[in-house]
Amino acid sequence: MPTDISLILKPGCIEGLNQQIVNEMHASLQYLAIASYFDGEGLPELAGHFNRQSNEEREHALKFVKYLHDAGTRPIFKSIPDVRNDFSSATDAVQCAFEGEVKVTNQINDLVGLSHKENDYMTHTFLQWFVTEQLEEVSTVSTLLQVIKHAGPSLLLVEDYVRRMPTETEGADA
Ligand code: FEO
Repeated sequence: MPTDISLILKPGCIEGLNQQIVNEMHASLQYLAIASYFDGEGLPELAGHFNRQSNEEREHALKFVKYLHDAGTRPIFKSIPDVRNDFSSATDAVQCAFEGEVKVTNQINDLVGLSHKENDYMTHTFLQWFVTEQLEEVSTVSTLLQVIKHAGPSLLLVEDYVRRMPTETEGADA
């Protein structure tokens, strides 16, 4: 009778979950590069916003690490691909963030599909938090992109908008 609890996860799902650790860390590093761009442009609210996003993405990666450990499987850490460091404008930087969130949403959807195909309903359930989180993140960054486009060269208006944005915790309490 097997006693190894790692047998509860299917190999395909383990591979996908490990890959998502890298994907979330890549998103974290990309946000750090975007925050750094805004820091250099003298826009501290935007820099702070993207630094917080970077921290959140690292927390997402850690949720996958914990899940794999809880399921009796040691995570495998791989290299993080290069991120973009050069941005031509605030719009370009936030467009990069928007495209990143759409990409992560597709990655999460693919993982949900894989867990369903493999009859891994434990992983399927675990992923539901990320499905909801992606809706919130895509919506937030897409609105920010619209605000930046409306503001044109008046980026101090965007700074004011970001200053008034609820934080993740405040949003959850609302
Ligand atoms: Fe964890 Fe915003 O993707």
